[in-house]
Amino acid sequence: MIFRQLFDHTSSTYTYLIAARTDGEALIIDPVLEHVNHYIKLLEELDLKLLKVIDTHIHADHISGNAELRNKTNCITIMGDKTEADVVSMKVSDNEIIKVDDLKLKAMHTPGHTSESFSFLLNDRIFTGDTLLIRGTGRTDFQNGSPSDSYESIFNNILKLPEKTLVYPAHDYKGQKVSTIKEEKKFNPRLQVKSKQEYIDIMNNLNLPNPKMMDVAVPLNSGLVKKT
Ligand SMILES: [Fe+2]
Repeated sequence: MIFRQLFDHTSSTYTYLIAARTDGEALIIDPVLEHVNHYIKLLEELDLKLLKVIDTHIHADHISGNAELRNKTNCITIMGDKTEADVVSMKVSDNEIIKVDDLKLKAMHTPGHTSESFSFLLNDRIFTGDTLLIRGTGRTDFQNGSPSDSYESIFNNILKLPEKTLVYPAHDYKGQKVSTIKEEKKFNPRLQVKSKQEYIDIMNNLNLPNPKMMDVAVPLNSGLVKKT
């Protein structure tokens, strides 16, 4: 399998380029607009045809490269079916399988950070978007976020996966690249709670500033205004 973890320094976003083999079909998860030309160059260098692009959710901190990639490569753009705006060509439902060559990704609705957040499971690894981060969890104070949903998605869905499952988030601000379910259960400070209410109290008292890009990125990524 070809697996590349790419990084946007401005927003600390991880983008993933995945393919079963060279000379085959590729998938990109959470592309950043500014790097679209780099992705296309990399696809050419690896002899890959971009088939599908997934956004885990409507991002508030960067502009998605999904529309630009669709314009340039005719790929299919995908989001979970809880995303209201019509910004993608295909919406997937909870438990739906997305195929790219021999690769099969399972869509999992994991609300909390936003009501429309999905995670995507690929064999031994899960792309958790901003639902579960490495040693953290995605904030729940805007875009219909809900600490209660976040708790349910994490404790009663993601953490039920085998402990050796690799965790690849959409962001990291400290240079951490990958974790496992086992590590997060043990060492993620937000998950060391004795009750759902304790988790909700933590999330309701983070007092974070809004992302700098939020007023621009959310309307653009939601399709409420045009990107060009
Ligand atoms: Fe986010």
